[in-house]
Amino acid sequence: MALSANTTGVTASETRPIPEPILVTPRCIIRRFHISDIPAVAHHANNPNVARRLRPHFPSPYTIADAEAWYEHTCAWEKPLSYAICDPVSNTFMASIGIRPLGGDETRTAELGYWLGEEFWGRGIMTDAATGFARWVLENFEPDEVERLEASVYATNQASQKVLTKAGFVYEGTRRRAGSKHGEVFDILTYGMIRQDLKEGK
Ligand SMILES: CC(C)(COP(=O)(O)OP(=O)(O)OC[C@H]1O[C@@H](n2cnc3c(N)ncnc32)[C@H](O)[C@@H]1OP(=O)(O)O)[C@@H](O)C(=O)NCCC(=O)NCCS
Repeated sequence: MALSANTTGVTASETRPIPEPILVTPRCIIRRFHISDIPAVAHHANNPNVARRLRPHFPSPYTIADAEAWYEHTCAWEKPLSYAICDPVSNTFMASIGIRPLGGDETRTAELGYWLGEEFWGRGIMTDAATGFARWVLENFEPDEVERLEASVYATNQASQKVLTKAGFVYEGTRRRAGSKHGEVFDILTYGMIRQDLKEGK
């Protein structure tokens, strides 16, 4: 079953209570986004240090309107693809993680993406979250929805490379000078995880 967008949901979601966690790890709670997350999403996303390691479609500056549009986008899927990573005590938003299915003959491949508010960097939060979330995706999506997870990382982004390696992703290669942003040209590294990796205990 291909993953598909929903045309309902946004209005109903505005009256929802804070969603239950899909995952609880030692350093975070992962749950669906809630409308009350919007100010915190805008606050943490509106940071050039976050945006410069992400694809150019990530808005910078990042406004409340951008966060509202993001929230509505996350509601537009029958099975949500993007989740909030929250503080385990306060349940407040710290970070975002999600998957994006590729199209065409790569429809069973989903790209993993994530970002964390800068004030939370370096505490092991994303290593913890990505490790749990990648396994959750492969356990909760069918093989004909997600057979493989992959992530593309700028060569300069050592923190993210470490996150992926520690989460069990396999380094698959470097696409030389594949990326360019703000006039700078750089390599992009590809990391992958397939269902077989989990069976083999990677
Ligand atoms: C990449 C990012 C998610 C890492 O999250 P994090 O929770 O700070 O990462 P962790 O604390 O789990 O650290 C993972 C490793 O990276 C290292 N690290 C953290 N920040 C680093 C930095 N700025 N430079 C180099 N290494 C760094 C940590 O020391 C740790 O290494 P270790 O295992 O050898 O101790 C976060 O920095 C971020 O959101 N950056 C901006 C957006 C982004 O890059 N998204 C990913 C795009 S592919």
